[in-house]
Amino acid sequence: MEKNIATFEEYKKEYDKSVTNPEVFWEEKARNFIWRRKWDNILSWDFTKAEIKWFEGGKLNITENCLDRHLEKIGNQTAIKWIANNPSEKSKSISYKELHLEVCKFSNVLKNNGAKKGDRICIYMPMVPELAIAVLACARIGAIHSVVFAGFSAKSLSDRINDASCTILITADGSFRGEKVIPLKNISDEAMDSTPSVKRCIVLERTKSKINMQKIRDVWWHNEMKKADEDCSIEMMNSEDPLFILYTSGSTGKPKGIQHSIAGYMIYTEFSFRNVFQYSEGDIYWCTADIGWITGHSYILYGPLLSGATTMMFEGVPSYPDSGRFWKIIEDNNVNIFYTAPTAIRALEAKGMEFVKPYDLSSLKVLGTVGEPINEDAWHWYNKEIGNRNAPIVDTWWQTETGGIMISNLAGVTPGKPTFATLPLPGIQPCLVDEQGNEIKGNSVKGRLCIKYPWPAMARSIYGNHERFKNTYFNAFKNKYFTGDGCLRDENGMYRITGRVDDVLIVSGHNLGTAEIESAIDQHKNVCETAIVGYPHPIKGNGIYAYVICHKKPKNKDALRIEINELLTKEVGPIAKADKILFVSCLPKTRSGKIMRRILRKIAEGETENLGDTSTLLDPAIVEEIKKLVQ
Ligand code: PRX
Repeated sequence: MEKNIATFEEYKKEYDKSVTNPEVFWEEKARNFIWRRKWDNILSWDFTKAEIKWFEGGKLNITENCLDRHLEKIGNQTAIKWIANNPSEKSKSISYKELHLEVCKFSNVLKNNGAKKGDRICIYMPMVPELAIAVLACARIGAIHSVVFAGFSAKSLSDRINDASCTILITADGSFRGEKVIPLKNISDEAMDSTPSVKRCIVLERTKSKINMQKIRDVWWHNEMKKADEDCSIEMMNSEDPLFILYTSGSTGKPKGIQHSIAGYMIYTEFSFRNVFQYSEGDIYWCTADIGWITGHSYILYGPLLSGATTMMFEGVPSYPDSGRFWKIIEDNNVNIFYTAPTAIRALEAKGMEFVKPYDLSSLKVLGTVGEPINEDAWHWYNKEIGNRNAPIVDTWWQTETGGIMISNLAGVTPGKPTFATLPLPGIQPCLVDEQGNEIKGNSVKGRLCIKYPWPAMARSIYGNHERFKNTYFNAFKNKYFTGDGCLRDENGMYRITGRVDDVLIVSGHNLGTAEIESAIDQHKNVCETAIVGYPHPIKGNGIYAYVICHKKPKNKDALRIEINELLTKEVGPIAKADKILFVSCLPKTRSGKIMRRILRKIAEGETENLGDTSTLLDPAIVEEIKKLVQ
């Protein structure tokens, strides 16, 4: 294993090297892995075509690097430590050897069920070790995994399955989340009513809920595993073969299947994991994300396993059986590195110190946050009450599309600053641009955050729609990847992400498209048009504010609000429920018909006086009407 960057001076040196000669820099990193054939070419790229290729000609398998290569030295070390939702259920420690065996067996299960290299396989599972096994087995046989977060609705699941024409769906009878049991197989059944590409559904028994098993199509995980051979050699993959698809919201209603390829993602997740968290051998690392999100892919599974770490996986929720659950797990397992989201920090802070005090958190060396800007208050609480001012906080900025952490301090090595993601990782060349795309140089400036040069883990396409990939990320500003985020650079060149500048809302750290929510609400028979905006919410970061126009004046507004939220739960998932719904007779639009969200946002924020320029509105009287409704 390569050494971590250990001092600020070393960081600066590495950063300079990575910018002056990126290819040499990344080639050095690539040498740390097992390749079955060496690459011919390190990098070729053309942002105007959205084409990026790293280590072409190379052949490898990422699971050989996650599992096989560790067996000799750390085969008996715990690879995954799993904590059940219910505290009375025993946790599980799975060694690298055991994980390797299970992955090989499940790879054979997939093959026995018709899976081939290049097939897309959808995974809709609870946070149990079998989810990790399923993901790695796909990678081992060269199938492309598409994990769908198990909080999504049947409709969202079937849309995602159909978009990638998945041939297999892997799910479970149900999932435990706090006190609830989520009927994953029933939801899958509903989804599979409209997914003709799915030929097989592999079902894990988890909750022992009563479910229907459709003959031929549905098989039990445990029965298949009994029949499976224990040996499974790796499928030889090309560097640029796709590893996975992961859906994220965009500015239209249709989610984007972000596609990542193997070699670059592997090199970057390992490098960033070790350096950002300053992982050292023997550390117990816990990331509380779900594997259904990119954070789980890169920093529960691939990054830690590639580094030979012990990675924890938690099935439950932070508030069950009470709000001390995270802190209890940290004490019980002597967690050294803890990575979570600002929304969780704020929610737990609000519950009070009586849930924190009983626990010994002295094992913690490093804390991390991800997913949205962390506010000053939450940062200080995390630092003082959880880290005892003794554990550096890494504020990691990145995206589903970037594959790995892009801007972050390196724990205890480079300086941190509350609410700032701080400095780019080696190999990452951020820049700020104005609305015309001119680069804004110097310090103490604000702009739109772009990246000027390719990095190995960047997304390669949107599944089945390269044109959309190009338009979304590379057309806004010439020769740059556009992140969709606003950002400022302080007097010392440190970056602070200020939030999205497009139609994506980050709610409790989840990425939601306003268009996606609007089109779901519009399906209600009494709804004629909707506009969604975000507003500051003390726990969720952003709350969802819906302005809704009805065909007929609603008789019972509260009943309609409930129906709208039920619809959102069904169409998108519970995370998309609106916090506030205001019934209006019209929306403020420009003469060209564009909704002026800026005004709606201000009103949602409680501002009714300084609404800015309203002269381009078709009918400024509408604003007065809406203002009256909220007063
Ligand atoms: O707006 C930024 C915000 O989350 C967006 C990416 O969301 P997603 O693709 O779901 O990935 C989340 C996990 C990597 C970004 O465009 N974001 C993420 N991390 C931070 C952040 N905003 C501020 N600070 C962060 N540390």
